[in-house]
Amino acid sequence: MNSKPIGVFDSGIGGLTVVRALMRRLPKENIVYFGDTARVPYGPKSPQVVREYAAQDVDFLLSKDVKMVVIACNTVSSVALDVVQKDAKLPVVGVILPGATAAVKASKKKRIGVIGTRATVNSNAYTNAIRQVDEEVEVFARECPLFVPLAEEGWVDHKVTVMVAKEYLFPLKLEKIDTLILGCTHYPILHRAIQDAVDGGVALIDSGEATAIAVEKLLEQHNLRNPSERIPNVQFYVSDVPAKFTEIGERFLGQRMGRVQKAEGFG
Ligand code: DGL
Repeated sequence: MNSKPIGVFDSGIGGLTVVRALMRRLPKENIVYFGDTARVPYGPKSPQVVREYAAQDVDFLLSKDVKMVVIACNTVSSVALDVVQKDAKLPVVGVILPGATAAVKASKKKRIGVIGTRATVNSNAYTNAIRQVDEEVEVFARECPLFVPLAEEGWVDHKVTVMVAKEYLFPLKLEKIDTLILGCTHYPILHRAIQDAVDGGVALIDSGEATAIAVEKLLEQHNLRNPSERIPNVQFYVSDVPAKFTEIGERFLGQRMGRVQKAEGFG
């Protein structure tokens, strides 16, 4: 059981930032990643559609005999955590509660900003999770849809990205937040532009990193850590043809990627 892989899924490529955090924190674990590149983005879609897609995504991971499921996608974690939990019948970790908990810990002024896709922000999932941890915290949320294509384009320090970041984040700056949750898989790629737009003193919380810590705790609790000293096997599957994913993916993963396979059963 313990040598079975951790299953990770996302709407597309962004979840590789979560895989990067998992590989750093849990270097012995085997991983199977699924990115729904044929149907990305999920962020502008309705909760009903995202829930339908999430059920299919998790079924694919279950067919790979995973020992637990990590929902790397903030949008899916916001609107379909229950769907995945019901289907999987295995330990499931989403990115919302770990990100919210880390933010509450970091915030001294109890003024937290959240940025994410439209679906994530509209769901209020982060606000609810933050209030669950500390009901006195004030939360200021803002959707930042243009960050997704900018990160995929690799425009990390481009003047357009700097301008867009200032435009999106100015209202949060006015609210004098001291902590900002990067509530979307793509945003860690634009870390610098985001930090500059909100001031150096604001703590940026990468939900992917917080999630890797939560995964480690869960593996401990369930006695599921892989004890093997062998080099782990990390497999990547996508629902569209793999070419673009492989090209952009290494920037998100922070290292070279092995073979990317087309997932069977997706068109
Ligand atoms: N992976 C999505 C998220 O974290 C961003 C991309 C999309 O809209 O599908 O919310």
